[in-house]
Amino acid sequence: ESAALLKAIIENAIDGIITIDERGKIESINPAACKLFQYAPEDVIGKNVNCLMPPPDKERHDEYISRYQRTGEPHIIGTGREVTGLKKDGSVFPFRLGVSEVQYSGRKIYNGFIHDLSREKAAEEKLRDYT
Ligand code: HEM
Repeated sequence: ESAALLKAIIENAIDGIITIDERGKIESINPAACKLFQYAPEDVIGKNVNCLMPPPDKERHDEYISRYQRTGEPHIIGTGREVTGLKKDGSVFPFRLGVSEVQYSGRKIYNGFIHDLSREKAAEEKLRDYT
């Protein structure tokens, strides 16, 4: 059955996948995202997605979403962006964020795709030290 297949794909994805409602509230988080941010699903489901980012995005994220809904002008949707995530232990890490908008049973949700860049960034820094 396709719903079970989809669930298996999301559960076993290498990248993190988070869904939020139109106000930024986390509705689901897959194991890869839990591992990256160091949270159990029950720690973050129902919370604002801004609990996973450091300032200044933390304070601005609600406005990012509402501005997009007001203007229809995307800044991440359709392109992606490199942003900084905040782990439970307070440390930060770089990742590539992709966001897609989904109309689902009469309402809007957003899917966030999280590709960790910690290793790439560390390698880049190391290279820079040599030059
Ligand atoms: C917009 C940061 C996670 C959904 C943005 C913008 C930034 C940002 C910088 C655009 C600001 C602008 O230039 O106007 C972050 C950071 C995250 C994060 C640091 C770290 C956890 C997420 C996740 C989702 C999401 C997981 C969805 C599940 C959105 C939406 C917008 C947005 C819907 C508005 C649409 C757009 O600008 O394309 N976010 N975000 N964000 N973000 Fe996030």
